[in-house]
Amino acid sequence: MNNRGVPAQRWRDGVALVVVLADLATYAALLHLGSVGFIKDPRAMASIVLISTVLLCPMSAAYGQKPGLWTSFVGLVGAVLLGLGIATLVGDGWGTLAALMIGLVVMWVLSAAHHAVAAPPAPARERTVPATAGDGGHATGSVLVAYASRHGFTQGIADRLATALRASGRTVDERPLASVGDLSGYDAFVIGSAAYVGQWLPPATEFVRRNRDALAARPLWLFSSGPLGTEAKDAQG
Ligand SMILES: Cc1cc2nc3c(=O)[nH]c(=O)nc-3n(C[C@H](O)[C@H](O)[C@H](O)COP(=O)(O)O)c2cc1C
Repeated sequence: MNNRGVPAQRWRDGVALVVVLADLATYAALLHLGSVGFIKDPRAMASIVLISTVLLCPMSAAYGQKPGLWTSFVGLVGAVLLGLGIATLVGDGWGTLAALMIGLVVMWVLSAAHHAVAAPPAPARERTVPATAGDGGHATGSVLVAYASRHGFTQGIADRLATALRASGRTVDERPLASVGDLSGYDAFVIGSAAYVGQWLPPATEFVRRNRDALAARPLWLFSSGPLGTEAKDAQG
C-alpha cells in the first residue's frame, strides 16, 4: 500500500465501523424489543450480518498488501463467521447468533488494528544532501568554484578543478570572486586566490570574511596559487 492509499484505507475503516455499529445496534434492539422491523428472529438477524460482512470485505481489505500470515488469518476468521452465519440461518439459534456478533466485532477490531500498525510512515521530507568535493557522490545543487587571479594562473587552476568536478557528476558554477552573489544555492564551495607578498588577494580575503557563516555551513575547500610560502625552499626547490 502506498501513502496515498492510507487516507482511502481510513475512509474504508470508517465505513466498516458504521456497518458494524449498525449491526450491533440492530442486534441489541432485537434482544431488548424482540423485533426490529422485519427482523424478528436469529435467522433474519444472521441474514443481515452476512450481507454486512460481504460489504465489509472490500471495506476492510488492506489493498496492495502482499498475501501472508495476516491474510491467511483473516480468511480463517471470515470462514468461521460464514460458518456461524450459515449455522444460525439453518438452526435459528440465539447462541450461534451471539457468536456471530462477537466474531463480527473481533474481525473489525483486528482489521482496524492491523491497518493502523501496517500503515507505512509518512515519507521523510526531501532534503538537500551537501556534496563533498571528490567523494564520488551526486550533489543536488551546484558547487561554486570561485577565484581571485591577477594574471590568470589561479583562474587556470580553477578551470581544471571545475572540469574535474563536472566529470564526477557535479554541477559547477565557476566565476571570479568579484562576480559571486547569493550563496544559498550552492551545496559546496571551492575558493582560491593567488598569493602576493604572503597574502591572498584582497577580493578573496574580503569575500571569505564577509561570507564566513555561509561558507562554514557547507563543505569548503580553499586553495592558494603561488610557488612559495614563507618557509625555506626544500631540496626539490
Ligand atoms: C610581486 C609578486 C609577489 C608574489 N608573492 C608571492 C608570495 O608571497 N607567495 C607565493 O607563493 N607566490 C607569490 N607570487 C607568485 C604568484 O602568486 C603566482 O605567480 C600566482 O600563480 C599568480 O597567480 P595569478 O596569475 O592568478 O595572479 C608573487 C608574484 C609576484 C609577481
